[in-house]
Amino acid sequence: MSPRLIIVSNRVAVPEPGNKQMAGGLVVAVKAALRNRTGVWFGWSGKIDETETAQPRIVERNHITYAVIDLSKTDFEEYYNGLANRVLWPILHYRVDLQEYSRADHSGYMRVNRQFADRLSAFLREDDVVWVHDYHLMPLARELRARGHLNPIGFFLHIPCAPLDILRTLPHHEEILGALTYYDLVGFQTENDRDNFAAYLLAMPGAKEGRDLTFEVGGRQTRIGAFPVSIETATYARLARNAARSPLAKEIKESLTGLRLVLGVDRLDYSKGIVQRINAFDRFLEVNPEWRSRVTLLQITPRSRSDLKDYAAIENEVTALISRVNGHYGEASWTPIRYINRVYSRTALSGIYRAADVALVTPLRDGMNIVAKEYVAAQDPENPGVLVLSQFAGAAAELTGALIVNPHESDAVAAALKRALEMPLFERRERHGPMLEHLLVHNIERWAEDYLAALAETRQRPSLMSELRAFLSPSRSSTDRRAPPEARRQA
Ligand code: F6P
Repeated sequence: MSPRLIIVSNRVAVPEPGNKQMAGGLVVAVKAALRNRTGVWFGWSGKIDETETAQPRIVERNHITYAVIDLSKTDFEEYYNGLANRVLWPILHYRVDLQEYSRADHSGYMRVNRQFADRLSAFLREDDVVWVHDYHLMPLARELRARGHLNPIGFFLHIPCAPLDILRTLPHHEEILGALTYYDLVGFQTENDRDNFAAYLLAMPGAKEGRDLTFEVGGRQTRIGAFPVSIETATYARLARNAARSPLAKEIKESLTGLRLVLGVDRLDYSKGIVQRINAFDRFLEVNPEWRSRVTLLQITPRSRSDLKDYAAIENEVTALISRVNGHYGEASWTPIRYINRVYSRTALSGIYRAADVALVTPLRDGMNIVAKEYVAAQDPENPGVLVLSQFAGAAAELTGALIVNPHESDAVAAALKRALEMPLFERRERHGPMLEHLLVHNIERWAEDYLAALAETRQRPSLMSELRAFLSPSRSSTDRRAPPEARRQA
């Protein structure tokens, strides 16, 4: 029997009618990692239930096995709303000012990590490869090791990793961030994130840096690397091409009545810079009166984490700002900003991306931002739209053909928007072509292969190597597999 890939993440996106969620980077990535591999996706069902169950519920859908557990109300409050989203999320997004630490949330976070380890332990086989995703589960490897599991265990952080001084604002950070040293491989979105964590590791007592980004801490060896998450580029491009002919795309086109379309797509989150973006659009209309009544900004913003006060506050701020701009510039026949909170299907969204002349992807801080990549993939290569991209999104390191902006400078974003709307076809093509090519090569399958290859190589037990190779696609040469992507680039 070939070894299984056990993916672990906080939320598991079991496809169910009524379980509508915007497919973020994590969901897209995990599904790709499981495609064509024998595996299981383990995590929280998204449900609150007080009944204690030792075994996860097993659900099979579209060739993927899901193993899900419920959380109690207290666990949800302390672990998910509390330490994960009121402390780790703001700190890792450089928003130290927003963290609200409490000892109760800290113990709730540790308790849920122990519960995850107990439930996982029950069905983990000796030859399973475990791949843990995101900031909710940093201590999980330590808990699994404590239960005697010697399996290869990797971790990938989908969100940014802040610099050392910011990381140290987390009370008792060694217990949470230091626990990442129990993983064999810790992956980050960008080299900047990776280097921030390297600085953190080197500041740990007795830490030593070895070869190939391997660090020795407390007798353990852990390797770190940059693995920029991506999308199913070719499939997405095809989806968008077909969606462009769909009834929804037709309706949108008709509703535009000749207006140019500028698009923003984000979960409602303070890290996404939606307020700054609306301010920039306001500035754009103020300084370019000739564009009034000729363009509309469609802002698609599904609500998220609504129990948290910072999320409720950002929702109120965005809503008030949009109505102010619409009230100020709007005409009976023209609404400057169309604001939508609903979730669109992947297909519908791909059609909307294709219809948009410009995408404003301007987060204040973002691990990667797959909207930027999906927008590029969805364009008609013969007549592509223009991506305006924040320098603080991980995607900016790769999508160099975008107009890169500082989202804090509304004048600059307004100027980039004007430039994008007025950009001649040859320049749009010149910018778009290389970005699309890059994404076709550096797609999500390549990401999963690179990460799992690095995990296999990182592992110190040679006997496991041959089994782990079974995860790798037969198309990759053995020389390719020898080192993680950044090491190969340096070679
Ligand atoms: O990518 C960051 C992340 O927290 C993922 O872990 C998660 O899938 C996504 O954002 C949505 O967040 P939430 O599960 O809190 O709604």
